[in-house]
Amino acid sequence: MRKKIVAGNWKMNLTIGEGNALVADILQKLPQLNEQNQVVFAAPYLHLHSVVRDTQASPFVSVAAQNCHHEKSGAYTGEISAFMLQDAGVKYVLIGHSERRAYNQEDNALLVKKIDAALCNNLQVIFCCGEPLEIRDSGTQNAYVEQQIKESLFHLDAAAMVRITVAYEPIWAIGTGRTATAEQAQDMHQHIRQVLAQQYGATIANGTSILYGGSCKASNAVELFAGADVDGGLIGGAALIASDFLGIIDAMIASK
Ligand code: PGA
Repeated sequence: MRKKIVAGNWKMNLTIGEGNALVADILQKLPQLNEQNQVVFAAPYLHLHSVVRDTQASPFVSVAAQNCHHEKSGAYTGEISAFMLQDAGVKYVLIGHSERRAYNQEDNALLVKKIDAALCNNLQVIFCCGEPLEIRDSGTQNAYVEQQIKESLFHLDAAAMVRITVAYEPIWAIGTGRTATAEQAQDMHQHIRQVLAQQYGATIANGTSILYGGSCKASNAVELFAGADVDGGLIGGAALIASDFLGIIDAMIASK
């Protein structure tokens, strides 16, 4: 059985004090998690040390970075490598978030290098994909997302692919308050799973967690997570408020 995951992507928000308080509040009220229902905090680099420290005693709660550099070390001012992240106790890294693709010119070729660096350093990858509005409006979203997956993931062998979680985040739904319908999410997740099955076979495709992201909130999470191929969510805005995030975690646990 594949894992369900609710991952909170804090983006460039929260001071250290605010982050510590948020994690403490969530951990105090956290329902029982297990191998099948896990929580991830994707915090800014500055927070990683304290979030790793504060979640260490919580099984099934992990920490993610929001990015990594593809080289191990060297003269890359301002960068953090996957090697440094795993040393800091980080377990996951987000790769390919649409904001980084847009604002930091990250293309699929660079994402390949980052994914390889992450896997080489024993990190697990939450690979983000998703189409802009004009692609959705033209009805070609399946081909667009398929291309992103092929160009960034298909160089991996099966042993590496099992360490990838996919997050489908339609760009038009991120931070806009406009969520994909449960049907749109399920249709795309099913498509992604088929694409993975063609390359890696049904066992690996069925074992890969595919998260939905884009204006997911406690109020729509139950409906979104009801999709047979929707295995949780990558949450932005609603991950910054303990009660909202906990509501989404409850929806994950209650799903399927
Ligand atoms: P949002 O962001 O939940 O604020 O739409 C999701 C994301 O970008 O991961």
